Amino acid sequence: MINIAVMGYGTVGAGVVEVIQHNQKEVSTKAGDAINVKYILDIRKFPGDPNESLVTDDYEKIINDPEIKIICETMGGLKPAYDFTKRALEKGISVCTSNKEMVAAYGAELIGVAKEHNCNYLFEASVGGGIPIIRTLNSSLTPERIHGIAGILNGTTNYMLTKMDEEGESYDDVLATAQKLGYAERNPEADVEGYDACRKIAILSSLVYGKTVRFDEIHTEGITKISTADFAYAKEMGKSIKLLGVSMDVEGRCFAIVAPFLVDKEDPLYCVRDVFNAVVVEGNMLGKTMYYGRGAGSRPTASAVVGDVIDAAKHLGKFIFCLWEDSKVELVPKDNISWKYFVRVSGADKETEVKRMFENSSVVKTTKCDGEFGLITDRMKERDFLMKTKDIPEVISYIRIYE
Ligand code: HSE
Repeated sequence: MINIAVMGYGTVGAGVVEVIQHNQKEVSTKAGDAINVKYILDIRKFPGDPNESLVTDDYEKIINDPEIKIICETMGGLKPAYDFTKRALEKGISVCTSNKEMVAAYGAELIGVAKEHNCNYLFEASVGGGIPIIRTLNSSLTPERIHGIAGILNGTTNYMLTKMDEEGESYDDVLATAQKLGYAERNPEADVEGYDACRKIAILSSLVYGKTVRFDEIHTEGITKISTADFAYAKEMGKSIKLLGVSMDVEGRCFAIVAPFLVDKEDPLYCVRDVFNAVVVEGNMLGKTMYYGRGAGSRPTASAVVGDVIDAAKHLGKFIFCLWEDSKVELVPKDNISWKYFVRVSGADKETEVKRMFENSSVVKTTKCDGEFGLITDRMKERDFLMKTKDIPEVISYIRIYE
């Protein structure tokens, strides 16, 4: 029997215990031994819970129990999770986590500690919830030179954008609904400002480059400025608006961004609706592959954590190779990247003048927005685009076009 502990009995932690207990036969058979949850660490009490007797608020009891071989870190946040994780790894106890904040900030370091102590720091659940993307990058896609990754990595914002698109609801209304349904937090900043997606694309990019792509260096824009007017234009163009995390190879260097993009009907990401997530990976030999599923929620996320527990159980005393070194990837500045842009301009009389400023541009209009027009530019470097639009006070907003 392999004894494990679960730190944090919240949505994901409770899901981990549920998956292990409900799918006991599958988990044990595939791990090669029975997996037993011996402790649940939480400062709260859970009277009446069937696992009440396993709950402790004493981390020392767990870390000093020689029977504990694997810990699931489902606490979230950095404090005290970072210390708890590091101390466990230093004792040779593998840690399986869903904590994207921790992985984005300390992934390289904690993998290094695990390697030194012949155990594992596994984090499948940190990106895309239940979607198997981390192990795919670390194993199936290893022969590939990865040219790019583009993903819908945040379920809350994808739900909100889907409702705005399909039901014409305003940003404020969909945010209120998302909060009511428990998707968005009372303080929704991490989701709507793109910070959550930013950490996820940083983790994926770090695995592609084998070095740390620092999340705080990724240009990040959220969805707070997206309006129903933008969706009216998007419809005219046969597109939708999605919050994408994009990472791509630019002449051997990495560029990464999180921002709302216009995505065409023909693109597979267009069909990713509601709270679902999807990641498209482009390899030089394989071409594009897409991974789709539930990016959040108790059971899907917990299933990914338990997949890691099984992997850790199969490799007790042995580090599973994972290339993510502590050195930093220098990112290409966004000014050097070329996109097409959709620009909204006020004053219908400005059309000829503004169109003349952008070679090969085309005009788009919607009956829903009087007294303004939209312009689709040719592909151009962001620096040049921003220089030009700086001189046009009538510009209302712009959205990059994903192609
Ligand atoms: N808030 C995140 C989301 C949870 O909405 O996708 C999963 O990381």
